[in-house]
Amino acid sequence: MHLQPSLLSTLPVLASYAAQCVAASSSAPLSFGQNYAVLNLDLINGVVAPLANTSEGRKWINSTATWIDAVHAQSPPPLSIYTRIYYSSPAAPELSPETPFYQVAASFGNLTETSPASEIYALFAPQTQNGGKDVVLRKSRYYAGDGNSLEEILRTRGVDTVILSGLRTSGVLLSTAYRLFDLDYFVYVIGDNTIQPDAPKVKETILEDILPGLPVTVITLQEALEALGNSGPARW
Ligand SMILES: *[C@@H]1O[C@H](CO)[C@@H](O)[C@H](O)[C@H]1NC(C)=O
Ligand SMILES: *[C@@H]1O[C@H](CO)[C@@H](O)[C@H](O)[C@H]1NC(C)=O
Ligand SMILES: *[C@@H]1O[C@H](CO)[C@@H](O)[C@H](O)[C@H]1NC(C)=O
Repeated sequence: MHLQPSLLSTLPVLASYAAQCVAASSSAPLSFGQNYAVLNLDLINGVVAPLANTSEGRKWINSTATWIDAVHAQSPPPLSIYTRIYYSSPAAPELSPETPFYQVAASFGNLTETSPASEIYALFAPQTQNGGKDVVLRKSRYYAGDGNSLEEILRTRGVDTVILSGLRTSGVLLSTAYRLFDLDYFVYVIGDNTIQPDAPKVKETILEDILPGLPVTVITLQEALEALGNSGPARW
């Protein structure tokens, strides 16, 4: 059989794709590799604290804290990046009543760097003291990289894989999954570590239908913990 050169040139690609499919369908243990970053999105008091009063919220808090503790227990710990929502001053110069996001932001009030409501929920505390290198970034829209150095850090540090936790599922989580997918990162979402307060159906649709369609890989807390054990040592 005579193969056209143009067809021949696609063969390595097809072979590589076939190999990936075999790897994906076999029971090869999941690993995040060595160049991964853990993204903990919008875990601030103002949105987390009210959830501690619901059983769904407590389950989510427990799962997220379990993950963060396991990540911090790695040696060396990987790059963890947290986002907080707040504005540069009480006048919230990043917002204006004319911006569509204003309605979303109004429920937060005028958060600044020192507002208790914009601080990370204590159970999820970043390690920034005593040699801890967790990163905390400010943002004021849905996307985790809004108005900050997220993309610069991921690029500079050679990150290829990101693992997302945070809330809400339809807000920062979905927005960030799409954007980082488009920027060519391998995106994992820990389904147990995201929540859509009072709208579980929305979370289910996003995790079961929308994200897998990208495709972004949705994993359970248990799968994430196992993958963490198979990953690293982290380059950070
Ligand atoms: C949680 O519930 C308690 C008791 O009903 C209430 O006093 C407290 O304000 C609630 N906390 C939040 C953050 O909603
Ligand atoms: C999660 O819940 C379990 C069972 O109640 C508890 O033993 C564990 O300490 C909790 N983990 C965290 C990180 O809060
Ligand atoms: C936020 O700041 C603006 C401008 O200083 C003020 O008009 C508004 O009332 C403030 N909103 C809240 C919730 O404090």
